[in-house]
Formats: sequence, structure tokens, C-alpha cells
Amino acid sequence: MTARLLDGKALAEQIKRELAERVRDLTARLGRPPGLAAVLVGDNPASQVYVRNKRKACSEIGLASWLHELPANISQEALLRLIDMLNRQADVDGILIQLPLPRQIDVLTVMRAVEPRKDVDGFGPENLGLLALGQPRYCPCTPLGVQQLLVRNGIDIEGRHVVILGRSNIVGKPLALMLMQKAPGANATVTICHSQSRNLPELCRQADILIAAMGQARFVQADWVRSGAVVVDVGINRLPDGKLCGDVDFEAVRERASAITPVPGGVGPMTIAMLLQNTVSSAASLL
Ligand code: GUN
Repeated sequence: MTARLLDGKALAEQIKRELAERVRDLTARLGRPPGLAAVLVGDNPASQVYVRNKRKACSEIGLASWLHELPANISQEALLRLIDMLNRQADVDGILIQLPLPRQIDVLTVMRAVEPRKDVDGFGPENLGLLALGQPRYCPCTPLGVQQLLVRNGIDIEGRHVVILGRSNIVGKPLALMLMQKAPGANATVTICHSQSRNLPELCRQADILIAAMGQARFVQADWVRSGAVVVDVGINRLPDGKLCGDVDFEAVRERASAITPVPGGVGPMTIAMLLQNTVSSAASLL
């Protein structure tokens, strides 16, 4: 069997076309376009690329965007002052603080400072708490992108066993919460594995849907995948030769899986589409 490719790039383009229509309508009704403020601290090259791509996507669908670039040695107080200003800026519907942040800055303090109704990354305690309570407002963009990629490709999640590799606050943990919700497009049985899990290959073989999000290049091997399983690769790793690869040994695993996401062109573009969607929803909630 050679797996069907789950094309996140094409789906993200479709979602962006749908959003562009909503943006036209919202812009007329609000008298201004919905807007996203991006905050980039330091000069991490990967973060610079991510933020550039997010802003480019904003302009493609008619959203306003602002970039606030801060030096790597910025104090936490100065960053909090900027966030406070953005919280009060009326034409900013969404605030994106690109991670990772430099060591002198406490991520949780920063996440708590973002006004929850503008927290379109869904990383703050109020939005994560609402998700945990089964009342999601803004879900984190990468998990939401994974769910949409499955649902919109007609892959049934309900009652299936989803095994997630990785327990990060921005992917593994919220994704588990989302897929276990009592809701359409969810209702899965979820297992989270992490660096201390025993018998990883055996746990992975029990998955109907295997989601790799632990940030280790080509970690998931073909014999970890049950024949016919669906494999979603959230990893973005740069190899010594400069090429990008995921957390899954793609060429080998695609021969066992029934469907698989490529890297690049799988989950990555969906993350950006979901950030736009959350920003549009934030603007729409003002009406
Ligand atoms: N760093 C890695 N992924 C993300 C993301 O989805 N949002 C933000 N803000 N930072 C990230």
C-alpha cells in the first residue's frame, strides 16, 4: 500500500479563500479590516520565516498586520508593556507572540498577559482552561490544523484510537484535549506518549491515527505503524544539508500507512490558516 497524501498546502489555500470572503464582509461591517499584531523577539531565523509567512498570509486574505520586532536582550517588563498596548489597541483583533522567547523571559507570564479575547494562538490559561472544560474559544493553531486536515479529508476520528507522540503545551497537550472532546470531529480515544514512555513502538502500533509531534527528525519507523493507519507528521526539522524533514521516516512509513502528511506541505500551512481563522473569529465576535 502507498499512502494517500494529505495535502495541507492545498487545503490551507481553500480555507484562505473561504476566509477572504468573510474578511470582505467583516471589513465592510466593522469599517476596518480585522488585524493581527505579531511580536518577534530576537533573531531566531526559523521564527523570522514563520512570522513572515504568517504576515504574508494575512495580506493575502485582506487582514491588517503589524510586526513588532524586539531585540533578544529585551526585558520582560518592556515586552509586557508592549503587550499591554496591543491589548488596548482597538484595531488589533489578534496578538501573536512568536515562540520560543529568550531565556530571561518567562513564557507563562507573557501568555497570561495577552488579553484572552485577542489570544488567537490559544496559548493562555483562560483559552486552554476553556478547552479543558469542553468550552473551547480559541484552540491552538497547530492542533486545530491537524484536526481540520483529518476532518476535511473525510478521515473518521470518532471512536478511533489516536496516539500522540509529544506532550508540549502548544501541540501534544491541547491536541489531546481537542480530540477527546465530546463533539463531532473528535470523540477519539487518546493516548499521549513522551520521552519517558516505555515500549513506544508497541504503543504506536496500536494507533488508528498516529500523530508525531516530538521534534526528532525521522524518529517514527515503518514498523511502528500498523498497516493502514493514518499518520500525521507535525515535526519540522532541518537536516545538516539544509533540507526540511518531519518526525516520521516518510519514505518508509508511506508504504504502510493509508494516508500521511508530507513535510513540508502538510501541517505547516494549516497552522497558518488556523491563525487567520482565529483572528477572523475574534473580529467577528465584536459584531
Ligand atoms: N512557535 C512554534 N509554533 C508556534 C505557534 O504556533 N505559535 C507561536 N506563536 N509560536 C510558535
